[in-house]
Amino acid sequence: MFSAYEIIRKKRDGSSLSSEELEYFVKEYASGNIPDYQASSLLMATFFTGMSDEEILYLTKAMMSTGIIVDLSGVPGPKADKHSTGGVGDKISLILAPLAAACGVKVPMVSGRGLGHTGGTVDKLESIPGFRTQMSIDEYKQILSRVGLVMSAQSEDLVPADRKLYALRDVTATVESIPLITSSIMSKKLSEGIDALVLDVKFGSGAFMKKSADARRLAKKMVGVGKLYGKKVTAYLTDMSQPLGREVGNWNEIVESIRVLRGESDAQDVIELTKRLTAEMIYLSTGESLTSAEKEVDKAITSGAGYEKFLEMVTAQGGDLKVVENPDRYPKARSILEAKAVESGYVSAIDTFGIGMANVKLGGGRAKVGDKVDPVVGITMLKKVGDKVSAGDVLTVVRGNDDAKTKSAVEQVVSSYVFSANKPAERILVKERIS
Ligand code: URA
Repeated sequence: MFSAYEIIRKKRDGSSLSSEELEYFVKEYASGNIPDYQASSLLMATFFTGMSDEEILYLTKAMMSTGIIVDLSGVPGPKADKHSTGGVGDKISLILAPLAAACGVKVPMVSGRGLGHTGGTVDKLESIPGFRTQMSIDEYKQILSRVGLVMSAQSEDLVPADRKLYALRDVTATVESIPLITSSIMSKKLSEGIDALVLDVKFGSGAFMKKSADARRLAKKMVGVGKLYGKKVTAYLTDMSQPLGREVGNWNEIVESIRVLRGESDAQDVIELTKRLTAEMIYLSTGESLTSAEKEVDKAITSGAGYEKFLEMVTAQGGDLKVVENPDRYPKARSILEAKAVESGYVSAIDTFGIGMANVKLGGGRAKVGDKVDPVVGITMLKKVGDKVSAGDVLTVVRGNDDAKTKSAVEQVVSSYVFSANKPAERILVKERIS
């Protein structure tokens, strides 16, 4: 018989936990027998003292054991997913999933809600009126077979321990931990029934891992756990030191994704990263070379096949197609303000955490467990790193529904910009591929 107190104390003092101890703690927490305050303490102790590779594996296994493992053997074709460790303006999943499906890969995607300062694919999808992210396993498989992709939230029975721990970490400042991120992401992905997985591991001011060396350690841990479970896994280290694309928010990121799928967007970073990661999914699923896979992705954009897949998925999941096809019909934010440059020069850096928190402040993310997110609020990044500005130029447009919050978000946005007299060096978006 184990004691939650003893387990917390052991971790606090830097000792390793056994597979049985972790399984006991995780199962009892998931069933409601261990309270949030003890789980928070173990999370914080883990945050500070870390975990060995064995413990990460045990924790992942313990999390998986609280739920089902989806059996997708009845769905023909290779099944692959992509997961990002979280960023600001990261709408890649919304574009990549339909593009991969248009190229013949089955994409059973289970996504999360916003976490800390980062946005979540589920919150974005739910900004589409009527869109359902919760469904039975049977419906999930039917949509996957019929459409080629399905984008859902974690169901009650898919790693229920992570559902609770994820929400708890979000509000207890315990997200940025390699063992906790690895077990959270990999327990979900390994329960999804996929054959292959592409991981987008972010580093920079908008990522949970600020340094690329830490992101590399995280990537290696995740790839290692995935391979031990017999999956094909590749990780990419990608730059998150400025928001991806122009839009940060929920509905506005849906609109930006639609534009990319229609071939109407100039968001080069979003386009480049989407192509790389989608091509990797095709490569892992079919063995086709990365170069030829990228050409297929290009074709799926120019032919409109990816956009058609997106519309099919929205229809299958109950979303309002009229609004998706005519985004101007969507309700507008009531309080719109501009954030202006206070000095002249080049934008040399953007504190992307600050931009993410400004969006949370507007209501685009959660301050506490259970908060509702506001789909219409958001930030449009008119100026990004490398752009030349004069004092008074508009840096971003900030959309809120409460004047005081919008004003405060504007102040946060303005203070997130850093200027220099000289043009900063070109950024490298994709730093490394780890397989
Ligand atoms: N995404 C997840 O699913 N879990 C984490 O811990 C971080 C990002």
